[in-house]
Amino acid sequence: MVEKKKFDIAVIGAGPGGYVAAIRAAQLGKTVALIEKEKLGGTCLNVGCIPTKTLLANAAVLHQVKRAADFGISTGPIAVHYEKMKARKDQIVAKIRSGLEGLLKSNKITIFSGAAQFESPRELKVMGRDNLFLHADKIIIATGSVPLDVPAFPCDHERILNSTSILELAHLPKSLAIIGGGYIGCEFASLFAELGTKVTVLEALPSILSAQGPAIAQFMSKALTNRGIELRTNVKVQSIANQKTQVKVSLVGGEELEAEMALVAVGRKVYTDGLHLEKAGIPLTEKKTIATDEHMQTEVPGIYAIGDVTGQWMLAHVASHQGTVAADHAAGHEASMHYEAVPAVVFTSPEIAMVGLTLEQAQQKGYAAVQGTFPYQALGKAQGAQETEGFAQIISDKKTGQLLGATVIGHEASNLISEMTLAIQNELTLESVLETIHAHPTIAEAWHEAAALANGMPIHFPPKRSS
Ligand code: NAI
Repeated sequence: MVEKKKFDIAVIGAGPGGYVAAIRAAQLGKTVALIEKEKLGGTCLNVGCIPTKTLLANAAVLHQVKRAADFGISTGPIAVHYEKMKARKDQIVAKIRSGLEGLLKSNKITIFSGAAQFESPRELKVMGRDNLFLHADKIIIATGSVPLDVPAFPCDHERILNSTSILELAHLPKSLAIIGGGYIGCEFASLFAELGTKVTVLEALPSILSAQGPAIAQFMSKALTNRGIELRTNVKVQSIANQKTQVKVSLVGGEELEAEMALVAVGRKVYTDGLHLEKAGIPLTEKKTIATDEHMQTEVPGIYAIGDVTGQWMLAHVASHQGTVAADHAAGHEASMHYEAVPAVVFTSPEIAMVGLTLEQAQQKGYAAVQGTFPYQALGKAQGAQETEGFAQIISDKKTGQLLGATVIGHEASNLISEMTLAIQNELTLESVLETIHAHPTIAEAWHEAAALANGMPIHFPPKRSS
């Protein structure tokens, strides 16, 4: 007979949404089951954020070695051993995964290995290495998303790859056609171009990174082109053929191009396969996502959904935050999500990081918005490190000085955005940034200078000429 167990809270999916929710629920004294059909850590740890950023760290080292002579350092011939880079990546992922398992166990969370499906709003059936029925008072769905496959050119994972299978490559392709110039396409373009692959990005829209707005798209188009990446916009890929030694990519209009491999990066879709949501009474939206309220609760009381399945931001850190909100609420505490200060980072070279509103969005919302943009070029620290490409930009409300948004492109952008995230989350003003002493010499001084520019009184920037 199949075993039946009872928990206060069951979490389906052990990605950065699910495992954080499980830990929070356990901290609040609940008995928690965490069900995962693949590997602990989900997309982020196993085939997303961590492996890609680990590989990008290799590229960053290579970049420094290549320009060592600029810093008065001679090197011998430089060779890239991709198989060693892959092995390093695999090792790091495995180490973090084992740490995560320990962390979950130390929180007394019961981990089940298998696929969960609803039998009723409070009942789950788990099938896999573990086979059992679970009763839980509250259930949190955190099943994430998977790469979108295009029926006209499905991935064969041999030469036509997606963002998961490309991580298994054992050697560097000589040339790579990337279909899609969004987050994923541009990050992989940066990685492989630095490692020596000839990269062509094929984007259907008039620009790459179009969701990030025209200013960023324009800056990045130039930056990526300068790094040797060929950007083809307004081109729609119609089909891809695996020709054994290469792929042939056919564009709408008849043009064809060849590359050793192709990466399909045309978006991700939410993953709810096999959950039998109908048995719990949970409908999918038109976009096939699960709708929730601000507490991350679905239409069915006691059932929550967090992370990519909600289709909102598709960012690991948003999933984690939603996880704590869902767990708090499920455990009977007041908690709700707010999205005014969500940082988003694209780990290209140079990095892009944004939080809050752009100037256009702020104006559309009726703010008398002003912006201050300070170039890296004018920072001593950036000059010293030869990292002068980029800018930091602050958007604020002219009336109250309240910070509304910030963007930074350039060296360390991914770390720099935290200061503005904290400031926007806490409704701080330009004045607060100007009153804050920023360490010198640092790249973070760019925020102080951008605030001074927005205020019309920059120190390290020439005054605006009066006409
Ligand atoms: P995306 O939606 O950002 O970009 C896909 C691009 O493919 C679009 O610009 C689209 O116009 C283009 N496209 C679609 N069909 C095409 C065709 N037939 N021919 C040519 N171009 C075509 O999706 P992406 O880059 O796959 O990323 C998915 C999500 O994953 C992101 O929205 C993001 O939330 C998340 N992500 C986050 C990262 C981070 O936080 N650093 C890194 C990677 C992904």
